[in-house]
Amino acid sequence: MPLDLEIIESTAAMQARARELRATGKTIVFVPTMGFLHAGHLSLMEIGREHGDILVASIFVNPTQFGPGEDLEAYPRDMPRDLALLEEVGADIVFTPTPDEIYTPGFQTYVTLEHLPNRLCGLSRPVHFRGVATVVTKLFHIVLPHAAVFGLKDYQQYVIIKRLVKDLGLDIRIIGGPTMREADGLALSSRNAYLNPAERESAICLNQALARADQMIKEGIVESQAIIAQSAAYIEAHTGTQIDYIALVDPETLEDVARIDRPVQMALAVKVGSTRLIDNRRLNE
Ligand code: PAF
Repeated sequence: MPLDLEIIESTAAMQARARELRATGKTIVFVPTMGFLHAGHLSLMEIGREHGDILVASIFVNPTQFGPGEDLEAYPRDMPRDLALLEEVGADIVFTPTPDEIYTPGFQTYVTLEHLPNRLCGLSRPVHFRGVATVVTKLFHIVLPHAAVFGLKDYQQYVIIKRLVKDLGLDIRIIGGPTMREADGLALSSRNAYLNPAERESAICLNQALARADQMIKEGIVESQAIIAQSAAYIEAHTGTQIDYIALVDPETLEDVARIDRPVQMALAVKVGSTRLIDNRRLNE
């Protein structure tokens, strides 16, 4: 069966193709990924298809968003499977650059935000959001999208990209895609592939802690500290878990909220075995 999916590896070719599409009046929707696609990514592609004429995905495991000792080398990859899935979901183009294509020799220009990265995941992953902001800005300049879709599971990333687009005056609509979950509530993530069966069982405590916090607020608890303490105790009761953070924050500024008197975003990061998982949920809507 011939592939309908167009595979583009070079920056120049991708940019030329995007310009050509724009010149013929087509709207481009972009879903950037690091590959090893799962149903969460595919749902972003489905959302993307609704928001423009041409759906462009990218697959690029971005080295600058991994810190020393993180899982860059081990990050799961399966290009043939990813291409088949993109074909199936009806993507039109996939951009698959090599690291040298993105980080050209002598590369030294990064995109950094002043405040939003210094919270939540940024505290234990100090270079992560600089890498994300840089690669996404660069990909935006190569793919030239009218709109781009990001998963809300990476909530801090979503807020940072929205801020970046506003601050830099980029004419790109940022769309958030809801988190997809396994039947037992575990948020889909490429890193779930690292979990052994016992860890997989413990991992559901992230989503359960969020649901319990939701319930606590509905029952009238308004002190964030009380919710965080109970959530921590609940997560720690699961084998192999180690909490990185549990936070109740303003959905836009990501600053801590002490009293739940408006909608808040609850976000958490927990190591299960050696795998760091994140999840979040809007509470008190
Ligand atoms: O969310 C991801 O997979 C990555 O952070 C992104 C947005 C593709 C940038 O590398």
